Amino acid sequence: MGPDIKEPLTLPCGLVLPNRLVKAAMAEGLADKGHLPGPRISRVYGEWAKGGWGALLTGNIQVDRESLDAWKQYADACQEYGTPAIAQICHPVRQSPRGAGEWGLCGQTIAPSEIPLHIGDGVAASIVRNVVFGSPKGMSQSDIDHVVGQFVNCARVLAQCVFSGVELHAAHGYLLSKHFLQSNTRHDQYGGSAGRRARIVLDIIQQIRNVVPATFCVGIKLNSADPSASDFEDTMSQIQLFGNAGVDFLEISGGSYEDPTTQSTAAREAFFLDFATQTRERLPNIVLLLTGGFRSREGIEAALKAGVCDLVGIGRPAVLRPDFPQLLIDKTYSDQEATVAFSKVPIPFLARLLQIRVLGGGAETEYFQGQIRRIVAGLATYAP
Ligand SMILES: Cc1cc2nc3c(=O)[nH]c(=O)nc-3n(C[C@H](O)[C@H](O)[C@H](O)COP(=O)(O)O)c2cc1C
Repeated sequence: MGPDIKEPLTLPCGLVLPNRLVKAAMAEGLADKGHLPGPRISRVYGEWAKGGWGALLTGNIQVDRESLDAWKQYADACQEYGTPAIAQICHPVRQSPRGAGEWGLCGQTIAPSEIPLHIGDGVAASIVRNVVFGSPKGMSQSDIDHVVGQFVNCARVLAQCVFSGVELHAAHGYLLSKHFLQSNTRHDQYGGSAGRRARIVLDIIQQIRNVVPATFCVGIKLNSADPSASDFEDTMSQIQLFGNAGVDFLEISGGSYEDPTTQSTAAREAFFLDFATQTRERLPNIVLLLTGGFRSREGIEAALKAGVCDLVGIGRPAVLRPDFPQLLIDKTYSDQEATVAFSKVPIPFLARLLQIRVLGGGAETEYFQGQIRRIVAGLATYAP
C-alpha cells in the first residue's frame, strides 16, 4: 500500500517535501531583460508558493546565464511559505531557433551528433526546420567539457541563491535527452554502449555534487516516449546508473516538442504508467516522480496507493488552479470538486495543413503561458 497524498517524503539528500504533489516545470515565457527572472516571475511563483505544493519545479533555465540577486529573489518567492523550489536546468541545443540566446542568426547550434531537429514529415516542415533551426554541429570534446562546466556552474549559483535543488532536463529534445542517451552516433567515450551514452549526464551529476551542499537535491527528468522498444533495456540500465550516481529523484514524463501528440492523445490520467511500472519494479529504490495527465484526487490517490510512483507532477492543472493541492488534500472538498478538467487546445489550421507538429505543441504551450500571464495580472484563469 503506497503513501497518502499528504504524507511527507524525505529525499536521499535529506530534503523534506511536505506532501506528494509537485508543481511540474513549465516554461513561463516571463523572463525580463537579459533573460533574467524579475517581478512577473516572482508574482506567479508567489501564487504557487501559497498553493500548498510539496515542491515547485521551475520552468526550464538555460545554463548560460547568471545574476545572483535576480535568482535569489526567484528562490525566495517560491519558498516564502516553506515549499522547496527545485530549478530545472537545461541546454536547448538543436531546439534553439536561429538568433536565440547568444547564437547569431547565422550561428550553428551544437548537438551530440549532426542530426537535425525533426519537426514533421512534410516538405513545409523540412523547409521551416532548415530556415528556423538549421543543422547542428557535432560536439567536440571541448564543447562537451564546456557544457558540463555550464551545468555545474549553474547548479553552484542556484545553490548559492538558496534553491533547494536542481533537476537536469534530459527530456523533450534538449541536449541531455535521447540525442545523447539513445540516438547518439558518436564513436568516442560518449557514444556506443548505454553506459557511454549516459556518461555526460553522469559527469554532470558527479561534478555538481562536488560543488553544492550535501543537502542540495539533484534530480533528472526523462521522457517515457523517447526510448523505442529496442532501447528499453538500455534505458533501464541508464536509470540504474543515475541512481548509483546519487540522483535524489527520477521524473518520468511523456511527450516531446518533436512529437507533442503523445502528450494529448491518452484518455487515462497517467498515460505512460507502463514505463513507470517497469521502472518501479526493476529499480525500487529510486524516488519516482510521474508527471502528465493527473487531473483528480482519485487518479492521484490511485497511482500513489498502487505504489506506481512516490510523487506526482502536475503541470497544466497547476496553471488553472495554483491552489490545486488545497483542493486535493482538504477532504471537505468532494472527489468531484477535487478535479481540474479541461479540453485539448485545438491545433491551429496551418500546423495541421503543413504537418508541422512543433506548432501543434506550441498552441498548448502558448495557451497555458497566456493563463500564466493572467495569474501575473491578478486575473482569473480559464480552461481551454
Ligand atoms: C506551458 C508549458 C510549459 C512547459 N515547459 C516545460 C519545461 O520548461 N520543462 C519541462 O520539463 N516540461 C515542460 N512542460 C511539460 C510539463 O512539465 C509536463 O510534463 C506536461 O505538461 C504534462 O503534464 P500535465 O498533463 O500535468 O500538464 C511544459 C508544459 C506546458 C503546458
